Amino acid sequence: MFHNAVLLQESIEGLITDPDGIYVDATFGGGGHSREIMKHLNKGKLIAFDQDDDTKKNVINDNRFMLINANYRYLKNFIRYHDAMPVTGILADLGISSHQIDIPEKGFSIRYDAVLDMRMDERQSLTATNVVNDYEEDELYSILKNYGEIRNAGKLTQAIIRKRKETSITTTGQLVALAKPLAPGHLANKYLSRVFQAIRIEVNQELDNLKIFLEQCKEVIGKNGRLVIIAYHSLEDRLVKNFFKSGNFEGTIEKDFFGNTMLPFKQISRKPIIPGEKEMEENPRSRSAKLRIAEKI
Ligand SMILES: C[S@@+](CC[C@H](N)C(=O)[O-])C[C@H]1O[C@@H](n2cnc3c(N)ncnc32)[C@H](O)[C@@H]1O
Repeated sequence: MFHNAVLLQESIEGLITDPDGIYVDATFGGGGHSREIMKHLNKGKLIAFDQDDDTKKNVINDNRFMLINANYRYLKNFIRYHDAMPVTGILADLGISSHQIDIPEKGFSIRYDAVLDMRMDERQSLTATNVVNDYEEDELYSILKNYGEIRNAGKLTQAIIRKRKETSITTTGQLVALAKPLAPGHLANKYLSRVFQAIRIEVNQELDNLKIFLEQCKEVIGKNGRLVIIAYHSLEDRLVKNFFKSGNFEGTIEKDFFGNTMLPFKQISRKPIIPGEKEMEENPRSRSAKLRIAEKI
């Protein structure tokens, strides 16, 4: 299968409140979630987004379905353009798909020696080669420390700076070779995956895009409509958690002049839903997944 859809039943149950509604799958990928949404629709419609051109080949042949090959940061513009405001529910299954990891030329994987690229959307200009070779030392350090939670981010940054003074770092193999000696012996793959994850988050501006998208969801989802997000990274999940709780990314609950709280969403459950043991065993990618569901007030 193209992609093993994570928390499939739980997310679709949380999303669909009306079989005749208009829904958005913001991260179409292999279409696992989209196909399941379609099964629950009657006269409803599904508008899917994916910034990766490759996902076009998974398009669902049904006149209630439409795929937009664009970044979900433009959600509101496209939904307005297609006269679909307000929608009944939005789902986002964040990050990259296992399919993208498995394509060597995309440069997401520590397993292949390929061009250091890591763009989900090949139309954008910033690549992992730019981040690794052109970013200032303090920017690189903060990406590795914050996005990758790399303990010895300082040492790794130094190793990158030393290497790039000798020669440009343009392949995943070069990055693996310079990072590996700094990894704890028995956890080398985990360490390298985190290094790659950190750079990928920067290349694709994943946290900024998520914030822009969530802000737009306040306007795009109609009353009592649902917002369903599956996150795989603690920083992403924190943004989602705070946003659901308070309507902002800091998690501070604001009150109006009369002392009434001004919340755009109500959390359906306070705790995130995580996959059961069986799913984690069958699909290792699901291990870090956290699903949160909120309802528009
Ligand atoms: C985890 S996969 C989704 C898998 C999908 N739910 C399925 O069942 O096959 C994430 C997908 O979202 C896309 N994506 C990530 N960030 C995006 C963004 N900002 N805008 C549009 N698509 C994005 C990726 O290209 C990838 O195909």
